[in-house]
Amino acid sequence: MDNQVEEIKQKVNIIDVINRYVPLKKRGRHHFACCPFHGEKTPSFTVSEELQIFKCFGCGKAGDVFTFLQEYERIDFREALEELAKLSGVTLIKSSLIDHQESKKKLLIEINSQVAKFYNYILLSHSLGKDALEYVTNRGITLETIKTFNIGFSPEDSKYLSNFILKKGYKIDDLIDTGTFGNSRFNSGLYDRFNGRLTFPLLDYRGHIVGFSGRILPTSKNPNLAKYINSPETEIYHKSQMLFGLNLAKEAIRQENSVIVVEGEFDMISPFQSGFKNIVALKGTAFTQDQLQLLRRYTDTLILALDSDFAGNNAARKSIELADSMEFDIKVLNLGDKYKDPDEAIKSDLEFFKFQFKKATDVWDFIIQSQLKIHDINTIKGKKEVLSVVLPLLIKIKNSVVKSDYFKKLANEINSSEESIYEEAKKYQNSNPTNFKLIPKGVEIIETSESKTEKLEELLLTLIIGAKDPVKLSQKLKKYLDQLTVSRFKTIAKYLLEKEDLTLRQILDSLPAEIKPLFENLYFESQKNQIDSVARLSEIKKATNNINKILLKDRLNQLSNQITKFESEENEEALKEVETEYNQTLEKLHQLQTNKI
Ligand code: UTP
Ligand code: MN
Repeated sequence: MDNQVEEIKQKVNIIDVINRYVPLKKRGRHHFACCPFHGEKTPSFTVSEELQIFKCFGCGKAGDVFTFLQEYERIDFREALEELAKLSGVTLIKSSLIDHQESKKKLLIEINSQVAKFYNYILLSHSLGKDALEYVTNRGITLETIKTFNIGFSPEDSKYLSNFILKKGYKIDDLIDTGTFGNSRFNSGLYDRFNGRLTFPLLDYRGHIVGFSGRILPTSKNPNLAKYINSPETEIYHKSQMLFGLNLAKEAIRQENSVIVVEGEFDMISPFQSGFKNIVALKGTAFTQDQLQLLRRYTDTLILALDSDFAGNNAARKSIELADSMEFDIKVLNLGDKYKDPDEAIKSDLEFFKFQFKKATDVWDFIIQSQLKIHDINTIKGKKEVLSVVLPLLIKIKNSVVKSDYFKKLANEINSSEESIYEEAKKYQNSNPTNFKLIPKGVEIIETSESKTEKLEELLLTLIIGAKDPVKLSQKLKKYLDQLTVSRFKTIAKYLLEKEDLTLRQILDSLPAEIKPLFENLYFESQKNQIDSVARLSEIKKATNNINKILLKDRLNQLSNQITKFESEENEEALKEVETEYNQTLEKLHQLQTNKI
């Protein structure tokens, strides 16, 4: 298979592949774009056509065309391989292990689709689903919407579903692996995790049913059950990547360049039914990085329509902080105190919802205003309370211009000065040391000669790799490359020196996998400062001189220890030998320092 990977790599151009997803602009030797993985407004995502690799200098993501597709499409290696094989016209020879994993995932998705079909049939067409259908329609959900979302009902008695699904010939183990089924302890049958619940298939952005959530009916015999339950983590369901509704909303999100974010299934479905198509639900959790990255592909603007008390709520704060760090514009659709959630607002007063949507404010304004409303800023206590909620959030704003604007606004609102707000903000900064890399006081960083050599060797390699013909230059500098001490740099040097007619890309391809990322880094680093070949040579000379100086000094230290030892042992002969070497070494160092070499 390795050969096929190589074959594909030779046939596709990373520039063409990435261009299909992210428009690249050529500047100098490289292509650039705003990073699709972390969100930014100035491009630090860099693609090298020469080496067929990419790297983002903002978030650090890097790799080749396979890595890009895997990360961007959230697919695994095998899927990326299949896609690129298609693109390049290579026919893949099957590998049984990977095929097995793939077909297992496909099987689980297929079982889920059958189960969803069954639940949906019960809800729409079976007497067992009558109460549930009445409940959903009473909540204002139309038949069309039920079909669009494939909503269903799981009968109280699991035997209906298990009969249906077993007849299709699936193996018990596979059914259990979907997370929907368990083996009943009481009789030998299967039980259904969602029994007695209204069911919502959970689809990934590609439209695969990866799991379910289920809501109890108000008529449930056991009111102590959790209102909603979800599939457990399985091979295909990952809670941290689930955004309910994304498969249906993604095109509208791209078109509107914004996404309305709500908490629950019904909060997504009701507005969607009323025409707000660019909407997804978090399903009651804080945003994860995975979810934000997924949304980042379609838009850079979030419109939060979360619970009204969310400024004081920890999960919401974390979400806002994370989204801001990924440079999303964050707005708030304010439901006020009137409605508990978007579903209720839509049902009671669609015009109000539409109006609030148009009026959506920046999240920072919303946070300040919501606090001013509930505290009396004419009292010291009130001011303190406002600051204690607002400042921890404002200090996290990534963009310093935006941050300073809001500090000003806050100062104005509470009749204080900007300086004192800054002073006050410091308290919150220090109270959260995990976000700051602090070097403990009194700890001096002593640079060892090893770390100095390491830096110099890295510099030397960077200078060589950045040259017009790195392979030829390496041959010229063989003497120095042979002396490298850091093993990973030694490996790179060995490959650079191996053959005289290799291109940089061939060298990269032949490197051991664990060394590749380092080489890619050195390469991009080498491109940062363009210098002419004369200047490059003089930099190389400086670096090699400095490496030599350190090596000589280290040797002098060793020798002087030996001298002390042999003196105490009165070993005249050994002493003489060591002293000679000491003097020679000293002389060499002296020459180096006075630049005679
Ligand atoms: P809410 O408790 O706000 O419920 O939970 P809701 O969305 O208003 O539900 P309805 O309108 O009464 O049907 C918000 C979301 O959190 C998740 C669900 O996705 C829910 O929609 N949740 C809630 C759970 O996963 N488990 C629970 O027990 C409760
Ligand atoms: Mn609700």
